[in-house]
Amino acid sequence: MTLPTVPDDFMFGTATASYQIEGAADEDGRCLSIWDTFSHAGHTVNGDTGDVATDSYHRYKEDIALLKDLGVDSYRFSVAMPRIVPTEGGPTNEKGLDFYERVVDELLANGIKPCATLYHWDLPQYLGDQGGWLNRDTAYRVADYSRRVAERLGDRVDTWITLNEPWCSSYLSYGGTEHAPGLGGGPAAFEAVHHLNLAHGLMVQTLRDTVTNAAAKVAVTLNLQVNRGDADAVHRTDLIGNRVFLDPMLRGYYPAELFAVTRGICDWSFVKDGDLELIHQPIDLLGLNYYSTGRVAMSGRPQFPQSTAASTFPGCSDIDWLPTDGPHTEMGWNIDPDGLYDMLVRVHNDYPEYPLFITENGMACPDVLVEETVPTAGEAVKAVHDHDRIDYLTKHFDAARRAMEAGVPLAGYFVWSLLDNFEWAFGYTKRFGITYVDYETQERTPKDSFKWYRRLIASRELPV
Ligand code: NOJ
Repeated sequence: MTLPTVPDDFMFGTATASYQIEGAADEDGRCLSIWDTFSHAGHTVNGDTGDVATDSYHRYKEDIALLKDLGVDSYRFSVAMPRIVPTEGGPTNEKGLDFYERVVDELLANGIKPCATLYHWDLPQYLGDQGGWLNRDTAYRVADYSRRVAERLGDRVDTWITLNEPWCSSYLSYGGTEHAPGLGGGPAAFEAVHHLNLAHGLMVQTLRDTVTNAAAKVAVTLNLQVNRGDADAVHRTDLIGNRVFLDPMLRGYYPAELFAVTRGICDWSFVKDGDLELIHQPIDLLGLNYYSTGRVAMSGRPQFPQSTAASTFPGCSDIDWLPTDGPHTEMGWNIDPDGLYDMLVRVHNDYPEYPLFITENGMACPDVLVEETVPTAGEAVKAVHDHDRIDYLTKHFDAARRAMEAGVPLAGYFVWSLLDNFEWAFGYTKRFGITYVDYETQERTPKDSFKWYRRLIASRELPV
């Protein structure tokens, strides 16, 4: 069976995040976030920071004009808590809310549905100073901030996303050292996992109580670890990387096996009575980010005693991560569109009651901006011929189509990213945009992939 067109309400979109694009780091009352601290402490390539980024705080109208030209149904952006609650327990910074209100109204005026992520990693530093996600109170502070945003924008936002990739906000940030705050606490990451899960539940509750747009949807975005290799190793990494979020959020429990495999490194005493009921809130959509797959194998090392050293994969010290088959992207990530298909089908089979949407997919390429003369126009124009990105996206949209044909209820697809931007620890060295950004001038140049995506959206057909 072929699927010529997607349903009318399918959301084609692009995604960005506040710290990666806004800049304006000390404007209109914004406080420092853990990513300001981390990047200014030199933990990024070239010491890059989000101080200016793509200056979208000032250029949001230009960016939304790009979205209009692209023809998207929806735009996924994130709200920065440091703009909304810049002092601990203090009043709402109305100027911060004013900014997001301008963005939302500009989107609506252009017929684009706002999809707002409430937490995309820029935790206020004052919460970081008190332990960040290792502190249970952070979950309550983030839920309180969410209420303030929903009170202002709850009549207009189409889709709310509580957290973006809690795997990164826990394992990469508290287990390893790759992301802010870079604690390197190995199994300490499990405590962050739980507090993020708790924040998700509290945020869903808050949104349900506050949002007045009856049609608004509430979702969360996970980046599931799609690994290939030994069944035992795949099973373990799925447990620790994926089910640790999926099961409490969607089922209301932590798998018993999780406690067994982490014994000796985590006693889970931070899980309090009633937490799992709080975490397990009904959501309307499950957002999934997908880029590539990993390859794992049982190492032959004993499972116990387990390591308490810094690690992005606590509870997996008897597992090896092996090199993946190419081709690879500029990030060194393998290109494996079947991984997207496998992930969608698996999540649908295991959690069939949730419609899914792809909240991020895209590729970093060594893009080159060229100036060339178009014979018909006669004048020099700038262009980026990013055929590898078009090929990547074509294959992944095709995988999504196959998953839909196999029965997966897929509600949308957001390309990461609208713009080249601050790629976290990699600073500005990795370009994921379908629009090229000249960081000297802030000039935006739609790449060939932008034009390709515009045609795809206009046709409302997924590649076969
Ligand atoms: C996931 C994150 O949500 C986003 O912020 C990041 O830039 C992309 N993946 C690419 O790494």
